[in-house]
Amino acid sequence: MKYQTASGMRDLLENDLILFNKITKAAEKIADFYRFKKIETPLLENSEIFEKGTGLFTDIVEKEMFSLVTKGGDRLTLRPEFTPSVVRSYIENGMQALPKPVNLWYAGPCFRYERPQAGRFRQFYQLGFETLGAEEPVIDSLIILVCYGILDSLGIKNLTVQVNSIGCSACRPYFKKVLVSSLKKSFNSLCQDCKKRLKKNPLRVLDCKEEKCERIKRACPQILDHLCRDCHNHFKALLEFLESAGIPFALNPYLVRGLDYYTKTVFEISQDASLSQGSLGGGGRYDDLVKLLGGKPTPACGAALGIDRIALLLKKEKNELVPQEKADVFLAQVGELAKQKSLALLEEFRKANINLAQTMNKDSLSGQLKMAAKLEAKISLIFGHQEALKSEIILREMSSGKQKITTLNKVVAEVKKQLKMG
Ligand code: HAM
Repeated sequence: MKYQTASGMRDLLENDLILFNKITKAAEKIADFYRFKKIETPLLENSEIFEKGTGLFTDIVEKEMFSLVTKGGDRLTLRPEFTPSVVRSYIENGMQALPKPVNLWYAGPCFRYERPQAGRFRQFYQLGFETLGAEEPVIDSLIILVCYGILDSLGIKNLTVQVNSIGCSACRPYFKKVLVSSLKKSFNSLCQDCKKRLKKNPLRVLDCKEEKCERIKRACPQILDHLCRDCHNHFKALLEFLESAGIPFALNPYLVRGLDYYTKTVFEISQDASLSQGSLGGGGRYDDLVKLLGGKPTPACGAALGIDRIALLLKKEKNELVPQEKADVFLAQVGELAKQKSLALLEEFRKANINLAQTMNKDSLSGQLKMAAKLEAKISLIFGHQEALKSEIILREMSSGKQKITTLNKVVAEVKKQLKMG
């Protein structure tokens, strides 16, 4: 029997992890600067949090959740996204009492039962930012700025932020009616999915990528023409902030996003203004979610970036190579006695913080010296049977080939001196 990872799941090997760490580090730096505090929430949450928060009629809740019932009968779900978990935590941990706004950030795996394809996995990694307790449009622009800043600091070029406003509970219900009555005129020409969406979640028709639906939606009224005064002013101010921050954005009146909690601002960031490959990140404002999940009414805004997609892009675009592994010192041992005595010596070097490499399972000296050269070691320590008997060791300066003998109890100090450490 040959076992493989489950469909849509993958192992992350060293090269992937180096890129993942680089992306998370870039986020951490910007999060620190803007004073976002890190949060970790459990992988499993009560299913209701996503059913209510993400929304019953979203693809995520309808088709994509990995859910289970515990032996005790609790219905739990592996988080498909962080936002409802962060809001649950905000309420549960009394963060509503903290000075506002509360800025939180996170990074970790999410799970969605989607059809696996390039850049789309069933276990994928997000990092994200949430600001709770502020309603001003400058907050929305700051969230966009933070996401853009991370991608930019990683050297990703040709980024575009697509923005839209999907209104609020005051203006959206009326727009929905207008939209439905317009779409009904072309009902028979809509794709099967959109026929269903029209009943349950008509705004999602605007998001459909099917060609026939694209044509129909272009003839529909646009939400930006139906915003209430508050939403209109909020959106106008956001665009002004983005303009003055120098962020390249494009207005996309069909951008609605597949999560139900958004109010006012929604946005997605992608390369070359194309969302067809899937966006690198997205987010928006969600002023009603805290109340919906049982908290006091609290305006909020946030976004998440897809770490897997950013890593794929960095790999493809910049041909990002893993930095060559290097060592300052190489310990070459020959024979059983030398190997035995090496273990205590290795510990001495580790405690002295010396970057040392070795291979315990090779006996040929020339093979070990070749490895030392490949690792660009400055010093090789040669430890053979004779040296081990006399508690001595040979120090070889790799650049000149010069060798000298020293005693085992002085070797660490001697190496430090040659490396000019401390
Ligand atoms: P989302 O658009 O569903 O938003 O996901 C954000 C990002 O996660 C996407 O732009 C994409 O890069 C990545 N992503 C999503 N699904 C997959 C997948 N199957 N495989 C690989 N990458 C994927 C949210 O999750 C919201 N919680 C964002 C947010 C935060 N809104 C407000 N605050």
